Amino acid sequence: MNPRTTNILQVLLSTLLALSYFAAQDARAQELTDGQVFLISTRLAEGAQRSWELGARAQAALELNATRYSVYSKAGLPPPQRVPSDMALGLEPVFNIARRVLDQRPGGSDPRPLISDSSSADPASLGIAVVLANWTNLDNNADRYASAATSQAEYLFSTQVPKSDTGAISHRGAEVQIWSDSTFMVPPFLAYYGVITRNQDIVREAFNQVRLYRDHLRDGDTGLWKHSVLGNNSDPGLWATGNGWAAAGMLRVFATIEHSEYKDGLGSELNELKNWVNEIHRGVYDRFFDGENLVHNYLNDDRTFRDAAATALIASTVYRASTLYDEHRYIPQAQRSRLTLFTPNGGPGSNSDGSRFNDYEYFTTDGWLRPVSNPASVGDALDNGRSPEAQAFAVMLHAAWKDWVFEGEKGKDGASSALGLRVGAAGAWALAVLAGIAVLV
Ligand SMILES: *[C@@H]1O[C@H](CO)[C@@H](O)[C@H](O)[C@H]1NC(C)=O
Ligand SMILES: *[C@@H]1O[C@H](CO)[C@@H](O)[C@H](O)[C@H]1NC(C)=O
Ligand SMILES: *[C@@H]1O[C@H](CO)[C@@H](O)[C@H](O)[C@H]1NC(C)=O
Repeated sequence: MNPRTTNILQVLLSTLLALSYFAAQDARAQELTDGQVFLISTRLAEGAQRSWELGARAQAALELNATRYSVYSKAGLPPPQRVPSDMALGLEPVFNIARRVLDQRPGGSDPRPLISDSSSADPASLGIAVVLANWTNLDNNADRYASAATSQAEYLFSTQVPKSDTGAISHRGAEVQIWSDSTFMVPPFLAYYGVITRNQDIVREAFNQVRLYRDHLRDGDTGLWKHSVLGNNSDPGLWATGNGWAAAGMLRVFATIEHSEYKDGLGSELNELKNWVNEIHRGVYDRFFDGENLVHNYLNDDRTFRDAAATALIASTVYRASTLYDEHRYIPQAQRSRLTLFTPNGGPGSNSDGSRFNDYEYFTTDGWLRPVSNPASVGDALDNGRSPEAQAFAVMLHAAWKDWVFEGEKGKDGASSALGLRVGAAGAWALAVLAGIAVLV
């Protein structure tokens, strides 16, 4: 090689290094600050009132701040009965929810749900907080929490809750309705309850309920899940959030089993759960994901708005699949979604006040994710946010991404090449320079 070529190669190399350095800096500049996580969490705490919102909030708090008590912890189940001092603060919202639920619990005979609700499934989402309160003997009141959790579990199996002809636990109390949402509310509770009370039959039943829901809800063409079937007002559309609830619920059941003493006995169930989560990811990302990096509220319907909440929840499950069982295939898409949601309009670094969201497309200044599906009427958008479940999804995305970073960012190489135009343009530029060198030598 003549010296001139060597020089050009050196210049090229350092330019490429600089470019990749800046791309990495950009990605880092698009993380949420602690102040922003605080804002999102505060809006979540203010907004969460209904059974499943409190359940989603408890789950978000575990995943972000009380990681040793989350089923995603690789340290395994059950967690310590004595709360380590570095987990006490993080668990506070979870325990406050358990206290509040018990204090407000209406009288009546057992079995009964933790909260009275027209949904027979949603109150179960509070079950893990209550099981943890028993396990750690919160306020020296373990028995009170244990009997409430047991009553909730038995209620699901009681004749008070309708079942489909195959035995799927109804989402609604008045008649059998099967909703994808239930996958996040019921099976993760049953799995956790089963592990803590050392009842393998209940752990297996958690898996079985997932299987039954999927049998009812899976759309044969896409592998994605319908929102709800059976009964009045069913919604057979491919609601994006419902697919997120399903994938996240299945991953929580997977993680609960994987990190428990039942792992070896339930190997084929673990495999199925993986396949079913991957099936949703394939459906979402291979079919219905484009350069906007946000999914539509109904995945297969372009006329519906782009939903930041479902986008966040589904992306969180991609990071979880990566850290739980080494499936990295859709990390590039999850990265694109995350960077799109968490970047200010003026570009990375343009928000100088880390305690607010100044000029963000997908957050209000005070930290509501937007636009999001209206929980009271899921076909409609809330353009200025104010959906508590959406806040929980934003927290879950941040938490899942943090764990993925901690585990070494596997699948990232695919991700950086997909980061978008900037890296794409750098690549094209590098090719052009290489072509130039080829001409020179
Ligand atoms: C997580 O902890 C931070 C720091 O203490 C706190 O600001 C935030 O509200 C917590 N988030 C949740 C969802 O509990
Ligand atoms: C379902 O719809 C039918 C017909 O409108 C009505 O008679 C029935 O009461 C409804 N059932 C429930 C449980 O709402
Ligand atoms: C409550 O905690 C104890 C351990 O202190 C455990 O043996 C029991 O199974 C738990 N019960 C429930 C319902 O979680």
